[in-house]
Amino acid sequence: MPDERLAGLRPGRDTTGQATRPVAPSPVWRPFCSPERLAEVPSTNLALAERAKEGAPEGTVLLAESQSAGRGRLGRRWLDPPGGSILCSLLFRPRLPLEEWFLAPMAVSLAARAACEQVAGAETACKWPNDLVSLPDGLKLAGVLAETVGETPGSAPRALVVGIGLNCNWPADFPPAGLEGDELATRATSLDRLTGRPVDKSALEAALLSEVARRWHPLAEAGLAPGKAALLSEFRAACATLGQQVRVELPTGAVEGEALAIEEDGRLRVATEVGEATFGVGDVVHLRPKGAPPGR
Ligand code: BTN
Repeated sequence: MPDERLAGLRPGRDTTGQATRPVAPSPVWRPFCSPERLAEVPSTNLALAERAKEGAPEGTVLLAESQSAGRGRLGRRWLDPPGGSILCSLLFRPRLPLEEWFLAPMAVSLAARAACEQVAGAETACKWPNDLVSLPDGLKLAGVLAETVGETPGSAPRALVVGIGLNCNWPADFPPAGLEGDELATRATSLDRLTGRPVDKSALEAALLSEVARRWHPLAEAGLAPGKAALLSEFRAACATLGQQVRVELPTGAVEGEALAIEEDGRLRVATEVGEATFGVGDVVHLRPKGAPPGR
C-alpha cells in the first residue's frame, strides 16, 4: 500500500501518477554572487541600507546603471555617466568586533583591483584608505564608501553597506564641463581611457563579486586571524601610498609626511616633522607618486 504522505514527493509523478515537471533544487545561497540589477536609483548604498533594515542577508548585492544622488566619502557627491560605471553596493554582517569591520571595504578595494587586472589587463594600485588608482599616473579609477546600518543610541551597528563606484567606459563628454566636472577630470579616469579599449562591464562585475566572495569567505567562516593576516598583507603589497610623501587632509587641517605603514587596525602611520601620527579617516594626496609627476 503506497504511503499517500510521500506520494507528492516522488520525483516526476504527482499524486495521481501523472508525469510532472522536474522540481528545481532549492537554490543554494552563495553570498555576493546573485546581484539584483536596477536601472536608476538615487544611491545603491541608500537602497541597500533599506534592505538591510528589512533583514536582507549578508551577501546581498545591488547594481545600478545610474545614480541620481551617488554618495562619496566625506559628504561628497559621486558622479557617473549612465551605464558607464559599475555602481555596486554589497551587504556585510560581519561576525567580527566592530574595530575589524574596516576589513570589508579593504576586501572590496582589493577585489576591484584583481578584477581590473583579470578582465581589462589594467595595472592599478590601492590608495589608502580604499581608492583604486591607475599606474603609473595615480588617477582615481574607483572609490569605496562604507556605511554602517542599524545602530541606535547605545547599541552597535548590525550591518555594513560597502559601495563601490568603478569607472569603466566613460563617454567623450564626461565629466561634464563645470567646476565639479573639471576637478574630476584632473584627478580621475576610466578603465577604457586607461587601456585604450572598451571594457566588458558584465565580466568585470562578475569578477568583482567573485573576488569579494573569495576574500570575505575566510573571514566569515574561518575566524579573524588567518583571513585578516592574508587581507592586510595583500593590501600592504598593493598600496601605492606606502613609502610616498603624502598630505593627509582632515576636517581640522592638513598634515604632511612620509607614509610608513598600514597598522593592524587599518590606520595609516605617517612620519611628520613633529613625530609619527596615525590616521583612521582623511583624504590622502600622494605628493610624489612613484614614477609619476607630483600632485595627485
Ligand atoms: C569615494 O568618495 O571615493 C567613494 C565613492 C563611492 C561611490 C559608490 S557608487 C555605488 C555606491 N552608491 C553610492 O551612493 N556610493 C557608492
